[in-house]
Amino acid sequence: MLIASTAKNLHEALASTSTVPIASRTIICVPTMGALHEGHAALVRRARSWANNNDPAALVVVTIFVNPTQFNDPADLQRYPRTLDADCTLCEAAGADAVLCPSVEEVYPPNAPPKPSDSELPAVATAPKLEDARRPGHFAGVYQVVRRLFELTRCRRAVFGEKDWQQLQLVRAMVQQLNLSIHIDPAPTIRESDGLAMSSRNRFLSPTERAVAPAVYRAMQAAQRTNSIADAERTMRETLQHAGLDVEYAVAREAQSLMPITTSTSTDRASVRLLIAAKLGSIRLIDNAPWG
Ligand code: PAJ
Repeated sequence: MLIASTAKNLHEALASTSTVPIASRTIICVPTMGALHEGHAALVRRARSWANNNDPAALVVVTIFVNPTQFNDPADLQRYPRTLDADCTLCEAAGADAVLCPSVEEVYPPNAPPKPSDSELPAVATAPKLEDARRPGHFAGVYQVVRRLFELTRCRRAVFGEKDWQQLQLVRAMVQQLNLSIHIDPAPTIRESDGLAMSSRNRFLSPTERAVAPAVYRAMQAAQRTNSIADAERTMRETLQHAGLDVEYAVAREAQSLMPITTSTSTDRASVRLLIAAKLGSIRLIDNAPWG
């Protein structure tokens, strides 16, 4: 597996691995911030198996870049785990062809597109008042970096986890807005056996908090057994509060726009997404699931 820190080195090295011209090979990008776990590995394996089944010459490129522009809390950026060696081992085992781990200067040269303003962002990044309201500037940073990572990798396909549902909808909207010919492939959330969604932040949970954390998943399961939006939201909130979590939001929203379901919108269960953000001590947990 190749490891490169610049796009130039990445593409030169990839080109030298085969006689098939690099420009004609599909590149599948798996963007990450490192501190990789089984959830990330599943994304890489998904990219690999899509390639094996559909386009054997395709190349799987994982990017590892802790993007400073998407952190609204400098302390969070500071303590973000950095585990590059272990990350590369995981990527290789999961079937990646290359890892691109660029510097801040490589991602953000002076002529790179700036961080968009809120009014330039797709509505899903500003209107729902979910992650957008809790993390000001976060989605502008995600938009800025994903756009650049797509440019640097020259990908035609990219895998994103459903774990970050609002981010996934933003990336889809960005691809449309910028008219990019990149297929966005959503990957299901990988969970621990007790239902806790895997996350690089889980390592900061104390043993007591770790025991409480699966309440997030239980809350969504309980909501799946309800028959109205109001009951679904109430059930999630009650389950979380009863377990001792501090609820930021626990809502049932239209799955694509993430806007509230009004009586005029369809309540077809398949088009409803349950979304939760809750705090356990200082650790913020987010999760989501279909209603139906
Ligand atoms: P990061 O948090 O490292 O996540 C990288 C990718 O892994 C995202 O698409 C995320 O949704 C997915 N992922 C995380 N946990 C998962 C799980 N338990 N199951 C399935 N997929 C999971 O998301 C980011 O980085 C950044 O915002 C990024 C898109 C790389 C831009 O900087």
